[in-house]
Amino acid sequence: MAFFIHQICRGFSSSAVRNAVIKHVTVIGSGQLGAGIAQTAATTGHSVALVDINDDILKKAIKGIEGNLKRVVKKKFADQPEAGEEFIQKVLQNVSTSTDAESVVQDTDIVVEAIVENLKIKQDLFGRLDKLAPALTIFASNTSSIPITDIASSTSRLDRFGGLHFFNPVTIMKLVEVIATSETSQETLDSLLNFSKSLGKIPVSCKDTPGFIVNRLYTPYLVDAMKLHERGHGSIEDIDTVIKLGLGNPMGPFELMDHIGLDTMKSIIDSLHVAIPDHPLFTPPELFNKMVAEGKLGRKTGEGFYKYK
Ligand code: NAI
Repeated sequence: MAFFIHQICRGFSSSAVRNAVIKHVTVIGSGQLGAGIAQTAATTGHSVALVDINDDILKKAIKGIEGNLKRVVKKKFADQPEAGEEFIQKVLQNVSTSTDAESVVQDTDIVVEAIVENLKIKQDLFGRLDKLAPALTIFASNTSSIPITDIASSTSRLDRFGGLHFFNPVTIMKLVEVIATSETSQETLDSLLNFSKSLGKIPVSCKDTPGFIVNRLYTPYLVDAMKLHERGHGSIEDIDTVIKLGLGNPMGPFELMDHIGLDTMKSIIDSLHVAIPDHPLFTPPELFNKMVAEGKLGRKTGEGFYKYK
């Protein structure tokens, strides 16, 4: 389909083809977020190419997707095991894997990037892909905190570049922050909003401002929780308990940071600090920096504020 759209669009200006339906999706990065985006897109009938740096990582991602699908089937197809198995196979057939982003993007409607939260690495990736992807292919970053304008600057498709900020776990969380820069065209924004809806999500349009909406509002609270603990006002467990029992949140701040990943959290805090240097809650405590340096990154490494088996 992507090839077809590509062919019929050759020779037309990008505005001549408005809101082409996104069918073929390339997801780059198969970690927590990328695998979730790939699963969601495949479940909603999109053809997905999932890309990462090596086959072992990709195998782990597919195994994780399969495990998630089995859990879905247990609930939704409890009395129809054959229909459940068919569902799993159908979704998995929609996902292919590759370690060669350059070749995959030559035939895709959208590239959704969910790699490490580092401006230079993201710019390098998009700069390379820009030369190979069809002119109409939309590029989107799932960055938590890096300005989309800065990432897009490594490409020549500023009008077809935006942000798609999903939340973890992607298969469950309904929100997508859709970020338009001052250069993003209305057609691209509409396509990103429609694509989010086609994934069963509820998109909210955001400006390209530091931390967009969720992380701008929520990061000071998470940093304040660490500082409160550091000053001896409460244990990690007690602070998590008061937030869960007193406010009804499903996770306390420390559980949530372990869930997000402390490396990603640090990148978010550091990006916000660069953007708003005077804000006292955009500087992490030393203990936090030490944990990241030691590789205690939360659930994904087996230890963060808590230990995981
Ligand atoms: P992760 O560490 O679980 O996964 C990142 C994946 O990207 C890894 O599998 C890694 O091998 C791969 N990767 C790194 N460089 C690559 C490259 N050049 N080409 C292909 N693959 C590459 O990280 P996570 O948590 O999935 O985060 C990914 C992005 O999503 C980050 O930008 C993060 O800020 C953002 N994000 C994270 C959220 C979270 O709760 N963890 C929530 C929303 C956004």
